[in-house]
Amino acid sequence: MEKHCGRVLTPATASARSPAARTDAFVAAGVPVVELRDLTLQFGDHRVLDGVSLTVGAGERVVVVGPSGAGKSTILRLLAGLQLPTEGQLLLHGEEQRYLRLDQQHPPDVRLVFQNPALLGSLSVGENVGFLLYRFSGLSESEIRERVDQALEAVGLAGIKNQMPGELSGGMQKRVSFARALIQDPSQPRDRVPLLLFDEPTAGLDPVACTRIEDLIVRTTTMAEASSVVVSHVHSTIERTGERVVLLYDGRFRWQGDLEEYRHTDNPYVVQFRTASLQGPMQPAEG
Ligand SMILES: Nc1ncnc2c1ncn2[C@@H]1O[C@H](COP(=O)(O)OP(=O)(O)O)[C@@H](O)[C@H]1O
Ligand SMILES: [Mg+2]
Repeated sequence: MEKHCGRVLTPATASARSPAARTDAFVAAGVPVVELRDLTLQFGDHRVLDGVSLTVGAGERVVVVGPSGAGKSTILRLLAGLQLPTEGQLLLHGEEQRYLRLDQQHPPDVRLVFQNPALLGSLSVGENVGFLLYRFSGLSESEIRERVDQALEAVGLAGIKNQMPGELSGGMQKRVSFARALIQDPSQPRDRVPLLLFDEPTAGLDPVACTRIEDLIVRTTTMAEASSVVVSHVHSTIERTGERVVLLYDGRFRWQGDLEEYRHTDNPYVVQFRTASLQGPMQPAEG
């Protein structure tokens, strides 16, 4: 169990909890950004995910919690189009995903924050952040610079765009990847809500660094008018970034509810997780 930032804090900002401001036809029609329908993923005999169902609405922040080996990263890999389900359906913006991301000509706007791909070491910070714009947008150099500057300023890193990633601390590199997630992909339809994915974003960080990243998750989701799925077992991260919590254990969702319900439910899985108890239905993964 993560011990570095186990304190409980209030949510990052009240205003950031309101839904994203996109008012397109999809949002108006209530088409969820993510829908998992009775989804199963099996490797050989091992059912890593066993009939999970989940809906994530526009502008919503969902935290997936659960012990190591529960299948949390696997859910993110499915959402990112790096893996396909064995049974059941994954829908993004109402469209069933039948192909891996690499095999799609126009993959959906899903942004894995500070994971895949990592910052490109041979490009400056500004070129990393503006990568999609330089490649696809046809915007002028000065327009791209302006957007890159705005994104870096939003994460508290104004003025570093000419530095190389290797010159930055690990924490600053993480923040650069948040700035990159703020850049709207010009090849994507404007009416689709982006999906931001965060896998254990605060694992191993000291409490102050945790708070900074938690605030950035909320702010980035709001500024990008996105939905997010955060995987974490850090209590402060659940409290500060989650609107809804889903508990995954051994490939199945054992509980879902909003943050307030998460704090008070007597569901035995949640109680064991909240109290970091050895007693309860969840047993540690082997190894
Ligand atoms: N490509 C794969 N092949 C076989 N087993 C896998 C593969 N990917 C994940 N698993 C297994 O799926 C289970 C869940 O993994 P993971 O999603 O990484 O869990 P978590 O992120 O909750 O710790 C683990 O038992 C892991 O060994
Ligand atoms: Mg994981």
